[in-house]
Amino acid sequence: MKIAVYPGSFDPITNGHVDILERTSPLFDKIIIAVIQNVYKQGLFTPEERAKLIKETTGHLKNVEVDCFSGLLVNYLQEKQASIIIRGMRSMTDFEYESHMSMINKQLLPEVNTIFIMADIKHIIVSSSGVKEAAMLGGDVSSMVPEAVVIGLKRKLEQLTSGKQN
Ligand code: PNS
Repeated sequence: MKIAVYPGSFDPITNGHVDILERTSPLFDKIIIAVIQNVYKQGLFTPEERAKLIKETTGHLKNVEVDCFSGLLVNYLQEKQASIIIRGMRSMTDFEYESHMSMINKQLLPEVNTIFIMADIKHIIVSSSGVKEAAMLGGDVSSMVPEAVVIGLKRKLEQLTSGKQN
């Protein structure tokens, strides 16, 4: 069984991520979207909230699962019996970061390979951080993220402006 892991922060999932998944899902028996639980970096959404938004937006892809992980990515791959990492790439800046990360992962676990998928031109400027910043300042991000995320971001903005946590 060919299992690939698509790791990331996904804070939140964007149309760019969904596009990468739609294009890679036919290539593998199973793709596990692995949401990092980073104790040092607090996101806008909790890992559980991110996983829920991912489930809501990838339900049409039957061989895609969502999970959360912490620690070393290569350990997670071994646990899941996967040897392929999927990453999207938009620019030379991404290339520098991604190539370094893929080489470290290969050094840590030689049987691991990272495959890079170029972002579609429609999504080349879309990033989770840009989406978050624009949405938290009241911008319309509906062309960049799935509908469920638009709703989730609006809810977050309301919580933040009213001072509530959940
Ligand atoms: O969406 P992101 O934030 O660019 O994803 C980065 C991620 C989660 C793929 C990366 O930070 C990661 O793999 N973290 C796990 C820790 C690890 O294994 N580090 C060694 C490889 S650099």
